[in-house]
Amino acid sequence: MRKWVLEPGITGLDALVLKESPVPEPGPGQVRVAVKAASLNYRDQILLHGRWGITIEEEVVPLGDASGVIDAVGPGVEEWRVGDRVLGIYHGGWIDGPPPAEVGFGLGSPGQDGVLAEYIVLNADRVTRMPSTLDFVEASTLPCAALTAWSALTGDKPVRAGQRVLTLGTGGVSLFALQLALAMGAEVTALTGQDVKASRLLDLGATDVINYRTTPNWGEVVHSATGGMDKVVNTDGGNALTQSLAAVSAGGEIAFVGLFSEGDAPPPLLVLMTKAASIRGVAVGSATAFTQLIDFVDQHGIKPVVRSTFAFEDAKAAYTAQAGADVFGKIVVEVAPQS
Ligand SMILES: NC(=O)c1ccc[n+]([C@@H]2O[C@H](COP(=O)([O-])OP(=O)(O)OC[C@H]3O[C@@H](n4cnc5c(N)ncnc54)[C@H](OP(=O)(O)O)[C@@H]3O)[C@@H](O)[C@H]2O)c1
Repeated sequence: MRKWVLEPGITGLDALVLKESPVPEPGPGQVRVAVKAASLNYRDQILLHGRWGITIEEEVVPLGDASGVIDAVGPGVEEWRVGDRVLGIYHGGWIDGPPPAEVGFGLGSPGQDGVLAEYIVLNADRVTRMPSTLDFVEASTLPCAALTAWSALTGDKPVRAGQRVLTLGTGGVSLFALQLALAMGAEVTALTGQDVKASRLLDLGATDVINYRTTPNWGEVVHSATGGMDKVVNTDGGNALTQSLAAVSAGGEIAFVGLFSEGDAPPPLLVLMTKAASIRGVAVGSATAFTQLIDFVDQHGIKPVVRSTFAFEDAKAAYTAQAGADVFGKIVVEVAPQS
């Protein structure tokens, strides 16, 4: 079979190498998945380029998000059958509640082979059923980006009908946050750095679109126009905290998601107190949250926004596209024929 690997000691696209290897056999309690589609996240750029000090010490199969079909089950596996359509679960060992102490970077990160391969072997509890309303390409976008958006919108202060949600940017997490929040009955104000993307955000159902580059005080603008956002999904990071605090309503929540920026200056935490608001970190999500998300996607007919698809042998081009400025939604690698 063919698999892509990240070679140690190199960063950038040169680290990505296509190799042949034997089809792996599932051991006790494991299943083998014939991968159909795999999707990319910004996290995969971090790993490719060695940002945030993360280095690849040993060869690893990249990417964390896949859909596929079970094509072999190991001894002792009762819950899965050959032919079942499944998704990989991003984090292992996190069933429900808060994450285990060292939740790590999920499938396709240092020490954990990922999914950019024709066949993968996973523990039986590391897969879950695919939504019945999505095809393999669409479904492959859910394990990291959609679950992160779901975790941001739920938690201790779940979004309720009639509330206001702010999203930032037009990548995978942000567009899922927009779509899921709308399905929860919220109104969404969407930020983008590119005016050309505004009409597409409005088409998806955003009430307002603001350019965060030309309106750098977007938090203040949003607050004075609306009275504040019940939920701010901060997919930028530290640099967007000051404006997130300006945007959030009294008693609202900032879901802190982003790794685009660490933050140059401390945010005005007095605002957090005077608004009695909260900031909550999000680390993708648990297996239980993932099944709740999958049910929600089926019930509400949510269709992931797929920007483009690439053939398996063109995985490098998929990485390049995912890092491009015209990203709007998800980039997917079709690992095998989709039927
Ligand atoms: N905490 C978690 O569990 C978790 C899980 C997944 C992702 N994340 C984080 O969430 C963020 C979004 O991830 P993603 O996979 O959805 O990203 P993505 O698909 O690569 O998103 C790209 C889009 O984000 C916007 N953007 C804003 N600032 C950017 C910057 N400095 N560099 C690149 N794009 C920028 C741009 O939208 P516009 O052109 O519209 O401005 C761009 O098109 C990242 O920071 C990622 O690290 C966190």
